[in-house]
Amino acid sequence: MVYLSFLLLLCLTCRLAHGVGLHGFHSHGLEEPRSLRQSKNIIEAWIQQPVDHFNPRDNRTWSMRYLENSRFFKRDGPILIMIGGEWAISRGFLETGLMYGLASTHNAIMYYTEHRYYGKSKPTKDTSPASLQYLSVDQALADLARFIETRKRREGFENSVVIVFGGSYAGSVATWLRLKYPHLVQGALASSAPILAKADFYEYYEVVTESLRRHSEKCVDEVKAAFKAVEESLAAEDGPQKLQQYFNLCDVPDANSPNDREHLMNILVEAFGGTVQYDKVENGRTKIAACCETMTNARFGTPLQRLAHFVSSGKKCLENNYEKFVKLYRNETWGAQPDIMRQWFYQTCTEYGYYQTTNSNKTIFGSSLSLRYFTDICRDFYGEYYNNEFLNVRIKRTNVMYGGLRPDLRNVIFTNGNVDPWHALSVLQDLNTLSPAIFINGSSHCRDLYSDSDTDVQDLTQARAKVRKIIGSWISS
Ligand SMILES: *[C@@H]1O[C@H](CO)[C@@H](O)[C@H](O)[C@H]1NC(C)=O
Ligand SMILES: *[C@@H]1O[C@H](CO)[C@@H](O)[C@H](O)[C@H]1NC(C)=O
Ligand SMILES: *[C@@H]1O[C@H](CO)[C@@H](O)[C@H](O)[C@H]1NC(C)=O
Ligand SMILES: *[C@@H]1O[C@H](CO)[C@@H](O)[C@H](O)[C@H]1NC(C)=O
Repeated sequence: MVYLSFLLLLCLTCRLAHGVGLHGFHSHGLEEPRSLRQSKNIIEAWIQQPVDHFNPRDNRTWSMRYLENSRFFKRDGPILIMIGGEWAISRGFLETGLMYGLASTHNAIMYYTEHRYYGKSKPTKDTSPASLQYLSVDQALADLARFIETRKRREGFENSVVIVFGGSYAGSVATWLRLKYPHLVQGALASSAPILAKADFYEYYEVVTESLRRHSEKCVDEVKAAFKAVEESLAAEDGPQKLQQYFNLCDVPDANSPNDREHLMNILVEAFGGTVQYDKVENGRTKIAACCETMTNARFGTPLQRLAHFVSSGKKCLENNYEKFVKLYRNETWGAQPDIMRQWFYQTCTEYGYYQTTNSNKTIFGSSLSLRYFTDICRDFYGEYYNNEFLNVRIKRTNVMYGGLRPDLRNVIFTNGNVDPWHALSVLQDLNTLSPAIFINGSSHCRDLYSDSDTDVQDLTQARAKVRKIIGSWISS
């Protein structure tokens, strides 16, 4: 997968070739699993939803997209729903993967629902702040509740058990759907779900550091040296010009602008966040190993030059200018941006934070990425109203409304990988006997949602087996 350089890592997703998962600035989403054969049974369909589920004086509606695969379904069989997050839905998870396997075993019908404001599910005419007020998890959960209720009303589905699956932010949605609408959902798999909202998510790069350290201490040392060199260059007289050359930046970084400096740092740091978050075996070695081989290879020159080699996006220059970035993402026209950052960032500014700073001395990526840089983005994208105090009030609200790390829940499985930086905001120990946590040694973001593969670590295949067994017991009880 080509690295969608900078703007991609903000979403916390597990990505779907453009798909599932959260990250920094990058909206990889969950990577779409690939099936050997295309299923002919998948249909695309739409359901009318209120723009605002909570205001009786507003009767506007819009069409939410979903996909359905009924090839295995037998009367009263279960309904399995893959919940879409901050990405466009596509067919992969209805053709292969963990949920698909369960559907074939238990004669289930499968759905993949698209989250409002992503893909083709557009509730409003634009993405102005006034329109984006309807982009919230409260509304998204209400969309899902209506969706399930209409599916269950059909003949042959009245007695169907409903199990939901979600990865990354969508894993949080799955968790909260079970919490808020337990009469509609009998169980949930929350894969790599950051259910705790937090403004300063400095733990993210602490885990990235530890995951690189598991490869080698030398890798950690060289990365640290490289970032030290970048910070020194930003402070040196002709350093910014040198950085432009080394990294093939589109603009010389403005050393006098904190946002411009931090924007560049964020681009560089995210390259490591993305590598670790989506770590898996590719061409015979893990992405982390490939990264560390570059960072420790003296053939590429100094640590700084190796870093440039690692983040290089080929011939095209790397967009690093903060003003240009803001200008692009302030645009309120659908499709004006190359990715979902305008919508996803809005969710972080109003509900979650999740800002991946370097405010920890257990990280190796310098110390210049501040919370202020991220809260400035909120203000610069959406207006003065979206400031730091606002963020704190909203994050507190999210944790009050949804229970933070201690929601009162039964029949939710929390899976996380110790390699995945998002695990720091998820449930790592059983909430209770009916809501177990499975912490997978050697796994990255959302890997359990895919099918077993020869290159999977043993802990991961065991985790999937355990998940299948638990969900099987929910279905047959
Ligand atoms: C929506 O409400 C308006 C009044 O606010 C009314 O004129 C209109 O007929 C309603 N539309 C529908 C579809 O009910
Ligand atoms: C926003 O993007 C649209 C579509 O690309 C473009 O036509 C429009 O001029 C842009 N608006 C601003 C204010 O830049
Ligand atoms: C950084 O690490 C040192 C020990 O190496 C510790 O004393 C200090 O409190 C740490 N600083 C922060 C901000 O965590
Ligand atoms: C995790 O896996 C690694 C490598 O396979 C192993 O060395 C380590 O002991 C394992 N850790 C735990 C807690 O099982």
